[in-house]
Amino acid sequence: MDKLIFPAKKISGMTGVPGDKSISHRALILGAMCAGEVTVTNLSTAADCASTARCLRELGVAIETRPDGTTVVHGKGRFGLRQPPGDLNAGNSGTTMRLLGGLLAGQTFSSVITGDKSLRKRPMKRIVEPLSRMGATIAAAAEGTNPPLSITGGALTPITYELPVASAQVKSAILIAGLLAEGKTTVIEKDQSRDHTERMMRQMGAKIDKSKTTISVQGGDLNCVSLHVPGDISSAFFLILAGLLIAGPGLYIRDVGLNPTRLGGLRALSRMGAEITYSTDRSDGGEPLGDIHVGRAPLHAIDILPAEIPTLVDEIPALALAATQAEGKTAISGARELRFKESDRLHTVALELRRLGAEIVEREDELEIDGPTPLRGTTVDSHGDHRLAMMLAVAGLIAEGETIVQQADSVEISYPGFFAVLQSLVD
Ligand code: S3P
Repeated sequence: MDKLIFPAKKISGMTGVPGDKSISHRALILGAMCAGEVTVTNLSTAADCASTARCLRELGVAIETRPDGTTVVHGKGRFGLRQPPGDLNAGNSGTTMRLLGGLLAGQTFSSVITGDKSLRKRPMKRIVEPLSRMGATIAAAAEGTNPPLSITGGALTPITYELPVASAQVKSAILIAGLLAEGKTTVIEKDQSRDHTERMMRQMGAKIDKSKTTISVQGGDLNCVSLHVPGDISSAFFLILAGLLIAGPGLYIRDVGLNPTRLGGLRALSRMGAEITYSTDRSDGGEPLGDIHVGRAPLHAIDILPAEIPTLVDEIPALALAATQAEGKTAISGARELRFKESDRLHTVALELRRLGAEIVEREDELEIDGPTPLRGTTVDSHGDHRLAMMLAVAGLIAEGETIVQQADSVEISYPGFFAVLQSLVD
């Protein structure tokens, strides 16, 4: 689907955002591992989370949506899954494949998990290696690096594992497998990545020891509890970006997850001169949440450093657009992981923003953006990547003339209804 975007004169209003995608995956998977009912409120309706639910149903887990919108996961216990009738399909979702990889590693059957064209290009050795060390037998395509993964589970042994790349998905795959192992599994990260898995496991009664970058889990059962999913900060970020770049009285976004491991993007925008206020005075089920206010402000360039990347990894497309409107040269460095997302984001961000007139240089692990540059509307392509589609839509709102975003329906992957919400906020 192509989406035609016209320049916006003004933005204002108040809105919520869908439930956090990362937390929703975890609620479904950890819920499936409980022996009994887990009730989840505000679960994301995004296509990626539907992929996790679909795979879990194939594994014998009943998941129902009640008329009030609450989701009930009828967990089967840690080892109660059944062999799926066919290949599991994780769609576009790296989180589904990697986290379920951890769960399948400790089951007593074999299974195959695959995905769409984009997912089949993404690196899986990062989970194959530690899960094999724990005792699973995993075969992967392209000499053990790419999906489909063929997983023969078994009795798992705990490991201590130092992550070679900062990745919450890999950390979570190991911690989930750790729940299935007897004894203590430890993951050590270089830079702290999102900690939703640890928080949720603790809430469900798992024995978790955690310093900033070393996390241990003791194998054992989880308790059935009720979970609440806060609004997705990474979805909210595109609205924040619009609020920042378009004139108007400003934008309020309600009930957004404000977990400190996800706030790197907001911190970077504040350093650029943005006026964003939020308070983390509430928390629901172990995750802080609050309301955000943002108004238009002049921006200046900053350096975004490698250690910050895990806390803003999904916000880089949006930060790159902000940098095109900031005074000076912004460098985003140590960002090679962006090449392994739904598209090669260092490349696609640079390519598409350049089409709109931005001055942006792509290096092996870095983007360098010179600003401010006026953007001119043209035809741009999301490359089937949801975060590119949303960033380019906001770019279209500040560009002169009309912008067409190709493959814009990819927004469904994380933010169903994004265009309608954006439309309702701008004049
Ligand atoms: C996610 C972790 C990040 C992020 C992705 C969701 C998660 O990926 O980019 O959108 O839910 O754990 P990596 O673990 O590959 O950094």
